[in-house]
Amino acid sequence: MTKPLIAVMNGINLNMLGRRDPAQYGVMELETINQRVAELAGDLGLTVEFFQSNHEGAFVEKIHALHGGGAAGLLINAGAWTHYSYGIRDALELLTIPVVEGHLSHVQGREEFRRVSVLSSVTSGVVAGFGANSYLLALRAVAGLIGTCG
Ligand code: DQA
Repeated sequence: MTKPLIAVMNGINLNMLGRRDPAQYGVMELETINQRVAELAGDLGLTVEFFQSNHEGAFVEKIHALHGGGAAGLLINAGAWTHYSYGIRDALELLTIPVVEGHLSHVQGREEFRRVSVLSSVTSGVVAGFGANSYLLALRAVAGLIGTCG
């Protein structure tokens, strides 16, 4: 039986993890987080594909490619785009697969502008504030939503 594929998308500035404010984002680089996510995916009977971009158009096009593209779920951290990109929001709205938002930092406890997610109206839920562990918790949430486990 083929393992369900989960897309893991990281947006603007997340390639700089390890060099960003450690108090908010920890010290782990994105590659290391991706490795942890891939390990957990293996344990959960899932496969994962990773995508990161600092270009909003490329990010939107990747979401379009997920539309009817074989992924069973999406874990997304759109970085600062979370707070203002209606383009990404509208692209996500096209998807029929479960979408879970993950954030390293506790966005609800930070600056006013970070407390708003324009994506949340088209996602199933948000995991935020647990550093790299947010990704692992969000992956478990996606697994639960697609009905494999979690
Ligand atoms: C973030 C939170 C955003 O507000 C910020 O712009 C990021 C990262 C997080 O993972 O905590 O780049 O999405």
